[in-house]
Amino acid sequence: MTEELQGPSRKEIWKMFNQISPTYDVANRVFTFGLDQLWRKKMCAFLPPRKEMHVLDCATGTGDQIIALMAKRPDIAHVTGIDLADEMVEIGKQKIAKKPYASKVSMEIASALSIPYPDNHFDAVTISFGIRNVTDMMTAFHEFLRVLKPGGRLLILEGTVPEKKWLRSIHLFYLRHLLPNIGGVISKNVDAYRYLNKTIETFPQGEKFTEKMQAAGFHHTHCYPLLGGISTIYQGEKDAPVHH
Ligand SMILES: C[S@@+](CC[C@H](N)C(=O)[O-])C[C@H]1O[C@@H](n2cnc3c(N)ncnc32)[C@H](O)[C@@H]1O
Repeated sequence: MTEELQGPSRKEIWKMFNQISPTYDVANRVFTFGLDQLWRKKMCAFLPPRKEMHVLDCATGTGDQIIALMAKRPDIAHVTGIDLADEMVEIGKQKIAKKPYASKVSMEIASALSIPYPDNHFDAVTISFGIRNVTDMMTAFHEFLRVLKPGGRLLILEGTVPEKKWLRSIHLFYLRHLLPNIGGVISKNVDAYRYLNKTIETFPQGEKFTEKMQAAGFHHTHCYPLLGGISTIYQGEKDAPVHH
């Protein structure tokens, strides 16, 4: 592991994801006992009530959020996935090529901090287990807001730490001691999974997180803790213009 990938820095963290890409999906299933797939599907319930939507999935990785979106909402017109880790995206492309909706999906190498799409372009922006990894969250929020159509929705799924003391202790033990070791065995990269627990523990969550979404300009923000708060879905909207 190179020096730049160690420590709390999120700089060029996508390179670390390239390193763990071959085992990324398996590790997710093992760590969450398959719940990650359920949570990605659950997030689809918060999509705006629009037909023929154009959706942007940021930090799309191996495409699991895209697969959940298309399974739950086959009426979606198109999903665009973007990510900086080319090897993650390549695995995603291979998975999606086998799906009947492959022609409605495109995946590209691009940053959430500089989204290569015009203003007011998407009905929804999704980002699952990704916002924690971007180097500048506020820049990402401003980009999400820019590319959303008025009335469009941002949906974020992220790992969090439960508020209830007893659940928090069990979860922290799991994150600090079990997860890096299991992750090390599966991916041969203990540091990657140490990074995971450090970033989950230090990242703003709950109202602190929705306050940041509001500061970036999102309205109607909500957070929905999942399974006592081991993950959370956040929602925010871009205001539709008021016509007098
Ligand atoms: C934990 S993975 C999540 C992948 C996928 N969304 C999922 O649900 O499994 C985090 C991803 O964020 C990507 N990433 C980190 N910084 C990024 C950025 N600035 N723009 C786009 N993707 C980024 C990484 O390359 C990695 O694939």
